[in-house]
Amino acid sequence: MLFCTILQHLQAHCITGAGNPLYCLLQKMETEEEMNRSSGIFIVFEGIDGAGKSTQVNLLSDALQRAGEWCVSSKEPTDGKWGRLLRESATIGRLSLQEEVDTFVKDRKEHIATLINPTLAEGGIVILDRYFYSTVAYQGARGLDVDTLDQSMRSFAPIPDVVLFIDIDSVDGLERIRIGRQESPNEFEKLDSLQAVREIFQKLAKREKEIVTIDGRQSAAQVHQDVADVLLGGVIKAKRCERSQQCGEVACPGRVDDKCRWWKIAQGFASD
Ligand code: TYD
Repeated sequence: MLFCTILQHLQAHCITGAGNPLYCLLQKMETEEEMNRSSGIFIVFEGIDGAGKSTQVNLLSDALQRAGEWCVSSKEPTDGKWGRLLRESATIGRLSLQEEVDTFVKDRKEHIATLINPTLAEGGIVILDRYFYSTVAYQGARGLDVDTLDQSMRSFAPIPDVVLFIDIDSVDGLERIRIGRQESPNEFEKLDSLQAVREIFQKLAKREKEIVTIDGRQSAAQVHQDVADVLLGGVIKAKRCERSQQCGEVACPGRVDDKCRWWKIAQGFASD
């Protein structure tokens, strides 16, 4: 905001016009700030099976829609042809490891081209239940090299603004699948492999700055509250605050005029 104040000062003293490099630079920065405020937001939930990701995707998407945001939620594997093939393979017989990775990549590339990139380009919010971190963790746990997988995913897939890793123990995860969903665990979901998957997620979370760990043993409502805190203090503040991240001001004009989208989203969460 400092440069806006300087810009106003320059305008007030008629130090304006294309010839003035400082004025031009400040104007460019202000345009970038405008663009940032209306730009897309990419949010991903990750975690082992039974962590409660889909509940959190629904709670978040409801809160954002209440605040008037355009928000699209989706999942991987998708319901497209590659995603359906992967789901079938989990119940009727597993693909080879390399075939499995190749199919997740085909599914993801289609997802990026048809849903993720177009929504972000139009300024929408994309919320995903699983993304490439799942390939690194699950196919890494099955034996592929974690770092090679991670690099290869990052070579084509856009990096999310934030990844919310809902962390629970593998025993709790399987218990929730058996009791909560009344399902028997499928091939992707056996205990030992889930423990290995969790450890890879934890390793990634320590290393990658976009990943935030949330304690998944808490109630769904408390996990949702933690998600709200992370987003309101992070990417939503950076991209939806009317006055460029001065959200703390009670008398902020954006808030008083009910124009600030950050403030509307904060109220959307508060009315959960
Ligand atoms: P899941 O989120 O459980 O979908 P659903 O509940 O709709 O069946 O995903 C199915 C499984 O796919 C899950 O056990 C994790 C696994 N998976 C991978 O092994 N690699 C990946 O890249 C992705 C996205 C998922």
